[in-house]
Order: sequence, then structure tokens, then C-alpha cells
Amino acid sequence: MATHVLFVCLGNICRSPSAENIMNYLIQQRQWSGQIICDSAGTASYHIGSPPDRRMAAAAKTYGLTLTGRARQFQTADFERFDWILAMDRQNFRDIQALDPDGRYAHKLRMMCDYCRTYPDQEVPDPYYGGPEGFTYVIDLLMDACAGFLEQVVEPSLVVTGD
Ligand code: 4NP
Repeated sequence: MATHVLFVCLGNICRSPSAENIMNYLIQQRQWSGQIICDSAGTASYHIGSPPDRRMAAAAKTYGLTLTGRARQFQTADFERFDWILAMDRQNFRDIQALDPDGRYAHKLRMMCDYCRTYPDQEVPDPYYGGPEGFTYVIDLLMDACAGFLEQVVEPSLVVTGD
């Protein structure tokens, strides 16, 4: 059965759609299509229905990536629908946690940067109010974290053991 992964940031127009598209790119590269289903959402409602931020899309384009999707807000039904919920920063993490007061889904919720292999960051920085270098940094950081997630979480589950 496929693993369902949801990436969550604040607006769902910069970081989480980038994570979703980068992960899909890496999945395709590994020929694991169909094994992992990705989606993204924002904790806030400001940008519902909007395409990815133009500056974020431009940064992704320099890596040959086209950002697709429309912003939506995280909903409590997502706790059931996804196996993994990856928060971009601590505030996103806390906002999702607040929707699960009993901690029923705590085992699904992680920080995206828990999977970084080379970057020291603990959060994916919000690029929204900064310059273009911030958007490029987000792409580099997410490439590292998404590859780390595939290596640490997905790949071991794909190994078929047989005697
Ligand atoms: P995102 O970036 O959470 O990575 O999509 C932001 C998008 C919009 C806003 C802040 C961050 N905003 O304040 O509208």
C-alpha cells in the first residue's frame, strides 16, 4: 500500500508546495511512482486556491522544477488520510498539534528538518518577506530533507525480506 505524505507550512504557497514537488521529482527519479503519494497544505487560510508564489516558482525553475498545485488549508481529516505529516517550522508543528489535543496522531507528525542529512537547520525558514536567495535556500534545504526522508523512512519499508 502506498505511503501518504503531507507537507505543511503556513500559507501553502512557498515551502510546502516546493516540498511536495521536490519529493515527487525524487520519487520519479527513483522509479517509485505510486508507492508514495504526496500532498501539501497550509495552517492558515489566507491563500486558499492560490498557485505557488511566483518567486518560489522562479527559484524552483532554476532547478528544472515546475511547481504545481493550489493552496488549501490543513483539515483534521488529514490526520487520518496521511501516514506522515511533515511541518516546515515549529509554529506549523504547534498549530497542527493544537488540532490533535489528545495526541492521537502524534506518531505521524514530524519536523521536515528531522530528515536533513547535510544542512544543520532545524526549521525550513519562511522566505516570504525576504529576498530571492531565501527562496533558493528553501529549495536546496528541501532537496536534502526530502532525500533524507526517502532514505530513512521510505526506502527501508520498500525492502522485501525473504529467506
Ligand atoms: P509559506 O510562506 O508558509 O511557505 O507558504 C508564506 C506564505 C504567505 C505568508 C507567509 C508565509 N503570508 O504571511 O501571507
